[in-house]
Amino acid sequence: MAHTLINLGQGFWNIRGAFRIGGVIDVGTQCSLVQLDTGRFIFLDSYELSDDVRDQVMALTDQGQAVEAILNLHPFHTLHCEAMARDFPQATLYGSVRHQRQLPELPWSPDRVESDAVAARYPELEFSLTQGIEYISAKPAVHAGSLLAYHPASKSLHVDDTFAAPPQGGLMEKLLPEIFISPATRRALKPEADAAETYCNWVTHIAHQWQDTQNFCAAHSGLVQFKSGEFQPTLLAAIERARPKLLAK
Ligand SMILES: [Fe+2]
Repeated sequence: MAHTLINLGQGFWNIRGAFRIGGVIDVGTQCSLVQLDTGRFIFLDSYELSDDVRDQVMALTDQGQAVEAILNLHPFHTLHCEAMARDFPQATLYGSVRHQRQLPELPWSPDRVESDAVAARYPELEFSLTQGIEYISAKPAVHAGSLLAYHPASKSLHVDDTFAAPPQGGLMEKLLPEIFISPATRRALKPEADAAETYCNWVTHIAHQWQDTQNFCAAHSGLVQFKSGEFQPTLLAAIERARPKLLAK
C-alpha cells in the first residue's frame, strides 16, 4: 500500500493513503495531523498507519501520547476509524451520527464532530459544513456532504468527497480540471426549492473565505498545490461548470 506523510509546514502534515474501488482503481484517501498551539496534536480523519509513515507519526507525537483527538470529518469514511481508535486509545474520538451508528463499539464522544463545541476547542482550524446538500445522504453512494477544515497557518484545506482532484500524475490529471465538485452533488441536494442556489452560494463563500488556500488536500485523489491567488478562481470555475446541472429542474 503506497502512503506518504507530507509536511506542509506550520504544524500541518497530510498523510496520503490508498483506497481501491473494487480492489482495483486506487482513488486515494487521506488523513491530516495538526499540531495545536499547546504542542499537542489532533488528526483530521482516520487512516490505518503502517511502515515509515507510522514511525514518523509516532516520532512526532511522543509515540502517540500527544494525540488528543481524532476528528472524523466525512460521515462515509469509516473504514479506518477502528484502527485509529486502537492506535490512539487516549484520543477523544469525534464523528458524525453515522460514524456512531456504523461503529457503535467505539468510544465516541457525545459531541458531534460538526458541533460548535468541537470547533471551539480547536481555534487553530476553521470549519465549514456543506450547505444546500445532505450532510448524511440516505443514498449510500452519495458522499457529497461533509465537514471541511481549513488550517490558516499553513494555508491548507482538508476536504473529503465534497471537492475532488483527479489522480495526480496520470492521464486523468490531464483530462480533468484541477479541482471539481463531487459528481454526486446533484443527488445530494436537499428537497428544498432553493437547495441548488444555497449550495452554489456556499461554494462561492468558501472560495472567498479560504482564498489563501495553497495546499488543497482532497481525499480523492491527492494534494494539489496552488500559488497565491490561484485557488479562488479555480474553485469558482468549478462551481460555475456545475451550476447549470445543479439548477436544472
Ligand atoms: Fe470518499
